[in-house]
Amino acid sequence: MNIVLGITGGIAAYKAPDIVRRLRERGAEVQIVMTASAEEFVTGTALQAVSGKPIRSNLWDKEAEAAMSHIELARWADVVLIAPATAEVMARIVSGGAPDLLTTICLATEAPIALAPAMNHVMWNNPATQANREVLEERGIHIIGPGIGSQACGEEGAGRMLEPDLIAITVFNLTGGKGEGLLEGRKVVVTAGPTREAIDPVRYITNRSSGKMGYAVATAAAAQGADVVLISGPVSLAEPPGLEVIKVESAMDMHAATHEAIDAAHIFIAAAAVADYRPVAIVEQKIKKKSESMSLELTRCPDILASVADLDAAPFTVGFAAETENLIKHARGKLEKKKLDMIVANRVGRDCGFDRDDNAVTVLWSDGEKSFPTSSKVELAHDVIELVAEHFFAKRGSETQSRLTVISNND
Ligand code: PMT
Repeated sequence: MNIVLGITGGIAAYKAPDIVRRLRERGAEVQIVMTASAEEFVTGTALQAVSGKPIRSNLWDKEAEAAMSHIELARWADVVLIAPATAEVMARIVSGGAPDLLTTICLATEAPIALAPAMNHVMWNNPATQANREVLEERGIHIIGPGIGSQACGEEGAGRMLEPDLIAITVFNLTGGKGEGLLEGRKVVVTAGPTREAIDPVRYITNRSSGKMGYAVATAAAAQGADVVLISGPVSLAEPPGLEVIKVESAMDMHAATHEAIDAAHIFIAAAAVADYRPVAIVEQKIKKKSESMSLELTRCPDILASVADLDAAPFTVGFAAETENLIKHARGKLEKKKLDMIVANRVGRDCGFDRDDNAVTVLWSDGEKSFPTSSKVELAHDVIELVAEHFFAKRGSETQSRLTVISNND
C-alpha cells in the first residue's frame, strides 16, 4: 500500500516516526509530506531515516517536483493520511484551498483521505472545528479519533492523537486491510466496555472497564479482514471506522444486542465487563436519603458468554477472565464451566487491566495455554486474534475431518 503521510504542526508530530514505523511494519510504502509548521516539532532527518524516502514539503521544489510531481504523488497514493491533523489543516481542506503541497495533494487525489486530529480540547470542541469535522465526514473523509485523556497543555479532554499503532491499523482497515487477512469473510461479534445497571434515574452500578481492550480486539479482527460487530457498553472511545458499532447500556441490553447480532457469526469474543448483578427493580424517582443505611436487593444478570456458548449453532466462543487472584486456576474454571473454546486471562486491579493502554494476558484452551507479556492493548489484541484464528481454523478442520469420517463410515 502506498501511503502519503501528511504531518502538520502540532506537538503530537513527535509521534510521526512511530506512525511511519507501524505503517512500514505492515508493508506500506510511506512518502512523508510535511507542512512548514510541522518542521518546528519534528526533524525531516529523523523522518527520512524511518521512511527511507526524501521528505517532501515544498510545492515549489523544482528538483523534487521533477522526480515526482504533486499530481503524480496524489495518483501514487492508495491513502492520504494526515497525522497529526491540526484544526488549521481541517479548515483548509474544508475550504478547498491549496496553499501548500499537502493540501494540494488532498485536492488532487482520488484516494481515501484519513485525518487523525490532535489539538487542545477547547479547540477540538470549538463549534468551528466541529462544523469542519462534520463537513469532512459528509465528504467521505475519515476522522480517526481523537482520543480523550491528558493533553500536552496539561489539561484533560478530547483532542489527543490516537496511538500510532491504532492509527496504522485503522488506515489498513479503511483500505487494503479488508478481505486480505486471516479472517476474511468471517463474521466476528465482540463485546466491550462496562455495563451500567440503573438504581434510579440518576444512579447506577458499574465497573472500571474503559472498553480499550475490547475495542482493540474488534479493530484487530477487522484488520484481519473480518466483518466485525462491536457491541459496546458506555465508553468514551471514538468508534473505530469500518466496523458496525452497537451501543448499549445495561447487561440486559447487551444480552439482547448480542443475541440479535450472533446469527451467522463465526467467532464471538466477550471482552466486556458485564455486571453479574443488577438491582431487582429500578426506582422510578430519585431515592431520597431518609435513613442512616439502606440496602439494595440485587438479582443475577444473564451470563451473555455462557448463553452464546450454549447455542445449538454456537460460534467459536472466546471469553475473557478478569481476576485479582489465582488467575490461571480461575480462568481455567470459567473456560470449562462456560464451555468455551478459549479464554483470555488478565489480572485486574488498581494498577493493571482496567482503564490503561497496556495489559498482560494468558490465553487458555482445553489442552494448552500461551502467555503474552505486558505490551499495548493494541499489540496484544493482534496477538490474541492471530491465536484465536489459528484455533478457530484448527477446530473447523477437525470438525470437517470428523464429518468426512462419519460419511465414509456410513458408506
Ligand atoms: O475495558 P478495559 O479498561 O480495557 O479493561 C479490559 C478488561 C479488563 C475489562 C478486559 O480485558 C476483561 O478482562 N474483560 C472481561 C471482564 C469480566 O467481566 O470478566 P469476568 O471474569 O467477570 O467474566 C468472564 C467472562 O464472562 C467475560 O468474558 C465476560 O464478558 C463474560 N460475562 C460476565 C458476566 C455476564 N453477566 N455476562 C458475560 O458475558
